[in-house]
This record gives sequence, structure tokens and C-alpha cells, in this order.
Amino acid sequence: MIHVLIVEDNPGISSVMRELLEMEGYEVTLAANGLEALEAFDRVAPDLVVSDIMMPKMDGFALLEAVRARPNGAGIPFLFLSARSEQAATSLARSLGADDYLFKPFAPEDLLIAVRAKLDRRRALQLLDTRLAHVQTVRMLANAVEARESYTRGHVERVQQYALQLARALGWDAEALLLCEFGALLHDVGKLAVPRSILNKRRPLTYAEWQLLRRHPETGRQMLEGVDHLRGAIPYVLHHHERWNGDGYPGRLAGHDIPREGRLLAIVDAYDAMTTNRPYRLAMPVEQALDEIRSQSGIQFDPAMVEVFIQLQPLRPEAPPARLDDAPL
Ligand SMILES: [Fe+2]
Repeated sequence: MIHVLIVEDNPGISSVMRELLEMEGYEVTLAANGLEALEAFDRVAPDLVVSDIMMPKMDGFALLEAVRARPNGAGIPFLFLSARSEQAATSLARSLGADDYLFKPFAPEDLLIAVRAKLDRRRALQLLDTRLAHVQTVRMLANAVEARESYTRGHVERVQQYALQLARALGWDAEALLLCEFGALLHDVGKLAVPRSILNKRRPLTYAEWQLLRRHPETGRQMLEGVDHLRGAIPYVLHHHERWNGDGYPGRLAGHDIPREGRLLAIVDAYDAMTTNRPYRLAMPVEQALDEIRSQSGIQFDPAMVEVFIQLQPLRPEAPPARLDDAPL
């Protein structure tokens, strides 16, 4: 339940406010001055504070400063109640980090609107914070993968762009697009467990090395399984090397048994590998790469997805690659 702390020395005003907010479903704690309010703040950890300015013992400004100084108080919405005659003081309040003011006397709906607006904004900021932290974790992991392969710079970012373009063209919903954003970035995360000597080997791999490399989808799945906000990327990680005809790995799945995320990533991963340089040849022109993709329709790739992908032209790598690139492994 959302908890509001009301700090007001006039018992008439505070009990009206309490009634209003409780009727709206909020939990309410009352305090008659700043000192009482601080004690209550530490005890109940409110989601929002509504405070009078002029009060005995500790006024509203001192309370705001004390709340902002607490580790859990920096982001708590703080609303001042102020008499019209105290308008000059409101600029001081703003400089201290108050979020808003209600001028007394206020209409009941003004209080409710202000409280709701502050709480909505706080929720939106919290969501944004979580999402930013999420994106940063994913980016860090993706960078760690890329840093271990000396010639794949930019590959993961381009694969992400192409994957999102294709997913949008296929009409995937917003949630699927969000997962696509992360899944495409993380698709090779299991390579973190593959020795660099194998990842960067220019000569053909031995059978044993190849076996080790082929484990990266399964290793990636194990890495992400225990992380709630990354688990949605698993279909990309686990199935991007499956082939439409069942010749891929690790599941040897065929056709629609391959999750759509894996089918989508297989196309864009191959396309990016073809349109960037490799140790033994230069990048293919876009037309030639698309022909190659078309020729593998129904063999390596989902034919319906290939059709949509071809229509996405012009798909171009954003910048020429700085280094030689390798085939997707
Ligand atoms: Fe891979």
C-alpha cells in the first residue's frame, strides 16, 4: 500500500487530509512537526511527504533538508503546504528540492491531484532507472563478449539493428521488441566461456576446438537462466545456430520447432557476417549477400522471414568495419 506522511501542526487540517487520502486507498501517518515527522519517516519509510512549512520545534525546510540527507530520502516526493502569505518562501523550498506546493486553503481534489501526480512521476522515474540499469548490464556483457574477439567489432550492435528492423517488419509486439533488443545483443554471451585462442584462431579449428565452440549457445543459456530480467533473451542465445532443415545446433530443431527468435537471429547474424570483411575475403556487396540469404531460404533459414528480410532493403552496415571480420560461429 502507498504510504503518505502528513506533517501539519493544525489538527483540523491534518485530519481532513487524512480522511481524504484514506478514502483514496492510501495509508496515512500524521506528524505535528518536523521532529515527529523525521521519527515517523525512519519508522514507516513513506512513499511521499506532504508537509506544512511553519511548525514548532522543526519547520518544513529543516525537515526537507533532513529527509533529503537520508539515503532513502533523496528521491521521495516532497510536497509543501503553504499559506499564500508565505509565497516568498516557496523559492527557498524549491532550491532545497521540494517537488511542489499546495496553497492553503486548498480544495480536496487539488490535494489528490498533486499527490497522484507526484507518485506517478516517481513510479515513471523508478521504471526508467530500472530500464537504464538493465540496458547497461546487457551492454556490459555484450562488450565483454566482443572484446574477446579481435575482429568482430561492431558486429553485435549491427546484428541488433538488423534484428529489430526485421522484428518490427514482422509485426512483433512491444514486449517482443524489447526482448529482441536484449536478445540480439546477448546472442553470443556463451562465448565468454570459450578460450580466446579458439575465438581468434585464423587456421581451421580442430574437431575438439569446434566441439568446444559449439557449446556457446548452451553455455549462454546457463548463464542467463538464473537472471530474472535476462531470461527472456534465452531463445536468441540458445537457438541462433539452428537451421530450418534441422542441421543446426544445439537442438537440431527444424522448421517452426525452432523458436522464432532463433530463426530471426540466424538470418541477421549471417547477413552481417557476409557484409563485413573476413580474414580471407572482403565484405560481400549487399545484393550478393541477399542472394546468398535467398538461396538458403528453406534450407538454413525460415522462408517467410527471408521474404520479409529481403524487402527491408536498403539494409546497410552503418559504417565500414574497422577490422577484418569472421563468419558467425
Ligand atoms: Fe553464435
